[in-house]
Amino acid sequence: MNDKKLIAEKIYTALDGELSLDDILNLLEKPKNSDMGDIAFPAFTLAKTRHMAPQAIASDLAEKIDTDGLEKVVATGPYVNFFLDKNSVSTKVVDQVVGEKEHYGDQNIGHGAKVTIDMSSPNIAKPFSIGHLRSTVIGDALANIYQKIGYTPVRINHLGDWGKQFGMLIVAYKKYGNEEAVRENPIDELLKLYVRINEEAETNPEIDEEARAWFRKLEDGDEEALSLWKWFRDESLEEFNRLYNKMDVDFDSYNGEAFYNDKMDAVVQILEDKGLLEESQGATIVNLDDEGLNPALIKKSDGATLYITRDIAAAKYRKDNYDFAKSLYVVGGEQSGHFKQLKAVLKKMGYDWADDIEHVSFGLVTRDGKKLSTRKGNIIRLEPTMDEAIERALAQINAKNPDLPNKERVAHQVGVGAIKFYDLKNERTNGYDFNLEEMLSFEGETGPYVQYTYARIQSILRKADYKAQSDVEIDFNDSDSWEIVKLLQDFPNVIKRAADKYEPSVISKYVINLAQAFNKYYAHVRILEENEGLQARLALADSTATVIKESLRLLGVEAPEEM
Ligand code: ARG
Repeated sequence: MNDKKLIAEKIYTALDGELSLDDILNLLEKPKNSDMGDIAFPAFTLAKTRHMAPQAIASDLAEKIDTDGLEKVVATGPYVNFFLDKNSVSTKVVDQVVGEKEHYGDQNIGHGAKVTIDMSSPNIAKPFSIGHLRSTVIGDALANIYQKIGYTPVRINHLGDWGKQFGMLIVAYKKYGNEEAVRENPIDELLKLYVRINEEAETNPEIDEEARAWFRKLEDGDEEALSLWKWFRDESLEEFNRLYNKMDVDFDSYNGEAFYNDKMDAVVQILEDKGLLEESQGATIVNLDDEGLNPALIKKSDGATLYITRDIAAAKYRKDNYDFAKSLYVVGGEQSGHFKQLKAVLKKMGYDWADDIEHVSFGLVTRDGKKLSTRKGNIIRLEPTMDEAIERALAQINAKNPDLPNKERVAHQVGVGAIKFYDLKNERTNGYDFNLEEMLSFEGETGPYVQYTYARIQSILRKADYKAQSDVEIDFNDSDSWEIVKLLQDFPNVIKRAADKYEPSVISKYVINLAQAFNKYYAHVRILEENEGLQARLALADSTATVIKESLRLLGVEAPEEM
């Protein structure tokens, strides 16, 4: 039984049913300050019904509580403060973590139901942007978190591999392209072609016409168009996959926009049958005035489909194919209008499951406080940036611990982990400034700091030749270890909260607190001292390490054993 419940029941008994157990549970608070106890019950509600001063009620109630399993119960003003018996709680919590290891915190809330996660989803023939990095990192963390609470995550990379821009690209390639150059440096080269043709299109309207025609051909399955498109796609994917390997992220599906090409007619037909389509300036739309939204553009006047048309088909395909319990789209906040339209159209089509769709949006990344912009040359090229992070991590290791085995591997874990952790440490709707130096610092709220704490614990355990045991009797009398125990005890709730809010930062913030609490403990307590409490202190250190490692894993960050 958890402590809140234990205390609620004691209050319930003492009050003799004056309040229901649920009411009591809802009233319980966490005191601001830990020397006010672990849980507090405010007497204001009772004061109202009894027409008495809350202070009097609190002191009367404190007297009546059965203190079995508690250290003490104290009335302070209008509150009854409960102090848990720290040693029995510590013994129980540590024993549980030591016994369950990385399964501590597992929950079966999802009963295996699927959660589809639309994540990463870069555009073919365009650079992988920092927004795509955020989507990849946040999406992957959410997948791990949902898995931990019993769902089956499905990571879907909804590649931007369809649309009129491919018409533009084909025109550009046919006019100026060089096969060799594209093979050598696909994304750079294709981007150059794309920029050049767009510039030309500004003064030459024929380009636009040609591009439309080529996209038309593509949608109609023309062989030449398809084979060029496929080649661009393969080359780009190869480059993206190098990045995914570096980031250690996998996908269950790469079904991008093109995948829905042959599923679009059916969707348009449903819209038609339900009487949702209207003509507007030659184009076909779904009017969303009643929702206060702009119309959803389903088909252009030339019959070409659009981004949202493909997303409608994709949403339906995912429901039919995976029967998801939730469908998440990890995409930047600038697309929030698009996802509102998408949900509204699906709702109008009569699909109640539209309510299970969630746009998990996130904020913009800046550098030196300035917005990133391809045009202004303020861009972050991800592959070289990641390599630089790894190199810098290696330099730090060489300075601190030159004899470390597997240096390259550890540098990779630290460098990539630093970038991921930094992305996940703030609430996702906030943006952040991309500062590699700060990300890689071993001090402050960083990935390397947390990883280092884990490695430090492993080194302590190795020194002590620690072997895990069950039922270690804990008899601590310091407040630092108690802080750790309370955090360990909270881990399952933390995971649940992160899932409910689609917010990996709940876990990052938690693991920073845990690492800080351990380092404080380490500074005040001689863990390795040979005395009675040794096994208990090692068990606490071991449990802390387990929960740090598992928290990092949920965030997609590895924990080296030594660094
Ligand atoms: N390719 C899009 C972009 O880079 C993101 C796609 C997001 N997913 C979706 N189902 N619309 O902006």
